[in-house]
Amino acid sequence: MQSQKKLTIKALVILLGFLIIASAVFFITSKPDLTSAQRQTKALIGGAFSLIDHNGKAVTEKDFAGQFTLIYFGYTYCPDVCPTELQILSEAYDSIDQKTKDKINLMFISVDPERDTVEQLKIYAPQFHDDLIGYTGTLEEIKAIKKTFRVYAGKVQDDSSTDYLIDHTSLIYLMDGKGEYVKHFSYGTSSEKIASYLKKHVK
Ligand code: NI
Repeated sequence: MQSQKKLTIKALVILLGFLIIASAVFFITSKPDLTSAQRQTKALIGGAFSLIDHNGKAVTEKDFAGQFTLIYFGYTYCPDVCPTELQILSEAYDSIDQKTKDKINLMFISVDPERDTVEQLKIYAPQFHDDLIGYTGTLEEIKAIKKTFRVYAGKVQDDSSTDYLIDHTSLIYLMDGKGEYVKHFSYGTSSEKIASYLKKHVK
């Protein structure tokens, strides 16, 4: 009886040891820098799209493969939020070294395809940075990419005017070379903070 008890203890110790090693391996291989919420977001944001750039060229997500992309959704008639964020985006981009810059595409995607024509975007985007490219598309294409990136954008009705404003999500998304979500920067994040993240994570 005594030796059987010893054997059971021995088996338990071996089992425990195995579990510790297994969980250590799991922890090491499961990217501990991502929280479960971040992993969830990664699965939710991004995917296939088709758009037209401000030079009139049709593009899809495949055109950005192998490159990081900073994406901002907005519209050229936006009175304040978009210009502020695009200014921050361009400042962040300008404070990183050329080698890192070369690995990043800057995308400004219109949520107002009715007014934001290719010509309109070609005038607008370079006002913030020469490397910032504006994108628009058909109503369907823009509706689809908004869904893909979980972007909210809705017209604000103003009966006193034929003009309208668009209430929209204001986030800067960083996507990796596989088109997968890396991180987003909330409205008002400083250019210094964005730049320091890019310096560390864009490799
Ligand atoms: Ni805006």
